[in-house]
Amino acid sequence: MGNKQIVMVTGAGRPEALGFNLVLRYLEGGNRVIATVRKYSPKLEVLKGIYGDDLIILKMDIGITDSVERAAQELAEKVDHIDILINNAVSVSPDCDKGFFDANLDYIAGTVDITAVGPMRVIKAFYSLLKNSKGTALIINISSEAGSITKSGRTAQIEYCMAKAALNMATVLIANTFKGDTSVNIFCVHPGWIRTDGRSDNPAPLSSYEAAGILQDLFEKRREDFTGHRFITNEGEDYPY
Ligand SMILES: NC(=O)c1ccc[n+]([C@@H]2O[C@H](COP(=O)([O-])OP(=O)(O)OC[C@H]3O[C@@H](n4cnc5c(N)ncnc54)[C@H](OP(=O)(O)O)[C@@H]3O)[C@@H](O)[C@H]2O)c1
Repeated sequence: MGNKQIVMVTGAGRPEALGFNLVLRYLEGGNRVIATVRKYSPKLEVLKGIYGDDLIILKMDIGITDSVERAAQELAEKVDHIDILINNAVSVSPDCDKGFFDANLDYIAGTVDITAVGPMRVIKAFYSLLKNSKGTALIINISSEAGSITKSGRTAQIEYCMAKAALNMATVLIANTFKGDTSVNIFCVHPGWIRTDGRSDNPAPLSSYEAAGILQDLFEKRREDFTGHRFITNEGEDYPY
């Protein structure tokens, strides 16, 4: 495979957040990038002005299968393959930080639908483009340590923890489905603790730009690792489901 890869990142419109910074890192590395958004992102348009044809901005709502399928059809007219798919988009309700007795439990299904089923919709719709990669295509589901059932100590963020646990299970089920096929690999990854709100008083140690650089290196190292645990941290350590 040449050095220039085609990389797709979902939920990439917010400049201070992880998705946008993954897009930026891959563009800086000389790759072609598909950034998916739900709505117009002025900062992505600025990148488009700099990187031109190397940046494709694609509208896609991962909660709506039709929207995902239409986006896949639209993209197939512009590129013939994808080398790396990063499922980064996430959505939580206003009750996310409440505990069991205070949270409206009716919000949970919507969060799971976007955060866990959304990446599954994307993988299914873009699978034929991933299969066309000349090397091993890589699917990364951006998960969280919050999705570990074994390590869980939280009482709040119920919908988020449940959604990431479901995303981890989806990753394993899809890895099982791909078993024996070395043309597509898949991991779920805890991306580190990151200042994705862009606030300097956020105690998280990593800026989104720093986190994106660490992840970019990790993805290259693990692309052809089919044997190990599927849930790993940004430092490349296995993390318990
Ligand atoms: N920050 C941390 O320390 C940390 C730790 C562990 C894991 N993570 C994970 O890292 C990832 C990035 O975090 P973040 O804070 O940077 O994320 P974010 O900005 O809150 O979300 C990323 C994007 O998801 C998009 N999105 C929401 N619903 C969508 C839908 N239905 N269809 C398509 N896109 C949708 C949003 O688009 P709109 O702009 O249109 O709303 C948003 O731009 C997430 O998966 C998060 O769970 C973060």
